[in-house]
Amino acid sequence: MLDTYRHKVVLIGDGAVGSTFAFSLLQSTNEIDELVIVDRTKAKAEGDALDLADITPLTSPVKLYAGDYADAADADVVVITAGIARKPGESRLDLVNKNATILKTIIDPIVASGFAGVFIISSNPVDILTTLAQRISGFPKERVIGTGTSLDSLRLRVLLSKKLHLSVNVIDALMLGEHGDTSFAAFNEITIGGKPLTTLTALSSTDKAEIEEAVHQAGGKIITNKGATFYGIAKCLSAVTRAIIENRNIVLPISAPLDGQYGIENIYLGTPAIINSQGIGQVIEYPLTADEVEKMRQSAITMQEVLANIEM
Ligand SMILES: NC(=O)c1ccc[n+]([C@@H]2O[C@H](COP(=O)([O-])OP(=O)(O)OC[C@H]3O[C@@H](n4cnc5c(N)ncnc54)[C@H](O)[C@@H]3O)[C@@H](O)[C@H]2O)c1
Repeated sequence: MLDTYRHKVVLIGDGAVGSTFAFSLLQSTNEIDELVIVDRTKAKAEGDALDLADITPLTSPVKLYAGDYADAADADVVVITAGIARKPGESRLDLVNKNATILKTIIDPIVASGFAGVFIISSNPVDILTTLAQRISGFPKERVIGTGTSLDSLRLRVLLSKKLHLSVNVIDALMLGEHGDTSFAAFNEITIGGKPLTTLTALSSTDKAEIEEAVHQAGGKIITNKGATFYGIAKCLSAVTRAIIENRNIVLPISAPLDGQYGIENIYLGTPAIINSQGIGQVIEYPLTADEVEKMRQSAITMQEVLANIEM
């Protein structure tokens, strides 16, 4: 028997990303009592709840079951990974109308359930869907979070580690802006063990262009090879969930509501933020060069254009 209640998480969308997230989350924290899995295909959610329960004797005692939107009523976090995934050759923005429609059918009943926790969204295009989730739910902006450029930033660090022959753990580097083709690497702000990269070595403009292009192509390459990408984003989702559940006050690159930062308003976009039990504790405006701010604004303009033309 558990003597104190800890936390409840509801996962909506039990596909490649959702099921891998659930597996990762159960291994990341001991602070969850209930994990509810909701999917359009209930049998799949039931199967995964049973399959995942098998790991709990080796992790921690979590109650796992296939549920419904109403189960969000007393949840701390709702994680949304439901939606159509990209096929080879498709961009994330190609998914927008279908996934916006799916998102609305999810957000409405969850809000109706009385849910008063934090939404985390990773379905694509994630910045657009996170902006829509906040607008549809009417939730305070700090209680709606998108995974943003968290995955892109991991990919950037892996590429830099290969280029610089350094452990990925000593490299602090961020991709910012849209989780997609207009994202950019904040090259001027990269640090190695806390020291600016620019004081240690110089990346040529060709190196930078190749690295940024490789980040942009990474997801498509994985999808061409194996049909989906899920380990990286699942780990990002569990890191954000854990930061909320454990009130960790850590900084993660997420899709955050911009309210004047970089001269941008009324849209979620990839930037670092402090994550704690309130959701977004603080959006961090990264100290960018004028060129980088311009790239951020271009990303925002692209997102605003897509938002203005959504059909749902
Ligand atoms: N943000 C990122 O970095 C990132 C990375 C990878 C994938 N994604 C996105 O995540 C989403 C899911 O990808 P995937 O590979 O897991 O796809 P998938 O097809 O494997 O899984 C999607 C799941 O959503 C379910 N679903 C659809 N509509 C639903 C609804 N209304 N209610 C409940 N469940 C519903 C489906 O039954 C399916 O199980 C896609 O939009 C994909 O583009 C985002």
